[in-house]
Amino acid sequence: MEWKPDKQARLPVYKQIAKRLEEQIVSGELPPGSSLPAERVLARRFGVNRGTVSAAYEELRASGLLQSWPGSGTWVSRHLWGVKQIPNWHKYTNGGAFLPAYPLAKRISEVSFDPAIINLAKAELMPSMIPSLPSREMESLLRCGFELGYAHPKGNPELRRLIADHVREQYGIVASPEEILVTSGAQQALHLISLCLLSPGDAVAMEGPSYFYSLPLFTSAGLRLYRLPMDEQGAQVGQVYELYQSQRIRMVFVNPTYHNPTGVVWSESRRRELLDLCRELRIPLVEDDAYGALTLPGSPKPPPPIKAMDPDGVVLYVNSLSKTIAPGLRIGWVIGPVSVIDRLADAKQQMDFGTSSVSQQLAQPYLGKSVWEEQMARLQAFLHEQRQTMLAVLEKELAGLADWKTPLGSYHVWCRLRLPADEQCLLDAAIREGVIFTPGSVYGAEPGWLRLTYAWAGKADVEEGVRRLARALRTALSN
Ligand SMILES: Cc1ncc(COP(=O)(O)O)c(C=O)c1O
Repeated sequence: MEWKPDKQARLPVYKQIAKRLEEQIVSGELPPGSSLPAERVLARRFGVNRGTVSAAYEELRASGLLQSWPGSGTWVSRHLWGVKQIPNWHKYTNGGAFLPAYPLAKRISEVSFDPAIINLAKAELMPSMIPSLPSREMESLLRCGFELGYAHPKGNPELRRLIADHVREQYGIVASPEEILVTSGAQQALHLISLCLLSPGDAVAMEGPSYFYSLPLFTSAGLRLYRLPMDEQGAQVGQVYELYQSQRIRMVFVNPTYHNPTGVVWSESRRRELLDLCRELRIPLVEDDAYGALTLPGSPKPPPPIKAMDPDGVVLYVNSLSKTIAPGLRIGWVIGPVSVIDRLADAKQQMDFGTSSVSQQLAQPYLGKSVWEEQMARLQAFLHEQRQTMLAVLEKELAGLADWKTPLGSYHVWCRLRLPADEQCLLDAAIREGVIFTPGSVYGAEPGWLRLTYAWAGKADVEEGVRRLARALRTALSN
């Protein structure tokens, strides 16, 4: 999104423009000698009076950053006093292979650190729900000291053994430690898969909409993404076959339990259908199960992960401790055939020499059966109450304006607006009201969807946040 001055801010608009131009000059985005747009052009672009731009230019002329000559326009001074001559970073930062985040996602993350904002966008547990490390284990870690050398490329052997026990116990997935790679969160697992197993130009089928950090990640790897339409049972698997024929897709990526953002739980028959098709077509199926453990009380138990139905090694299973224990540990894993795990481990070793060994040691006690089950019981009670709070306030504030379904697990309510409101307008209005949510377009959804998260904000904030959102929606609809 193009920068524009904020007319509600306390800093006068001409000062905001001067500050913005100064930043661009100092960063090299506007190198010495480059010419600036005519005042009336910039005024139109920023939606301000010409006099406001004149005042900004005047301020920068006075500080020696700009020069102008009647009839010749305005340009960045060639003899900048006190301004470092640095590379044109703008050109570099726009040139790298890794794409920047979507502008709406960036805007959300910029304001998410403002303590006055109620955050219904953050997919993270509130700090009080992060369990403290069991004291006996902590004492023994402190007594014996942490191992601080480089970790094993596949991950600390003890942690991998614990993950193998954990996935067998909790999900019925049978895997040896050799088939497990510890990663820096599920995100790195997805990144490694896209870089090591696919090539630029390869086509991938994934649910539409889909988890938003996977979209730019895959696009940065040069992959072509094709969406699988979804219904109540999961994605429509027939489309995989069609895409295989028309686009030669080389991988399928799904998030079948409490899909982010829709909350859909794939039926067991859809899971089997997809697995059988991928086996038949001999294409890998990547299963992201980041929220799979978070069934809410009263909801039916979800079908087992697809990986638990896969004795042949078609599925690469990705999970982490981020949504259940603590995202800051950055502990995730990928489970798959040994040859694939070795390939990913080799790349990871070259990239970062392995996940932090301190984090890996800290993570181990959380995978013990009793610690895990105690945390799950706490989380389920907490998330259930939070969900009920959000559903009740949605009913009160947004009935008639939006529709939603009761999520069976995880952190989010996926809402559809009855009347389409411009997303940018709605987000701006919400930020002015002091609340943020995630617009559906960042997940690749059609306009008119939004995701509201009830895991981060406290009960009173969830209520107030939805009230603010309802006000913002009325404002956006009236524009
Ligand atoms: C569906 C899904 N997969 C993966 C991740 C990545 O999580 P992490 O890297 O913290 O494990 C997230 C985070 O929000 C997610 O929602």
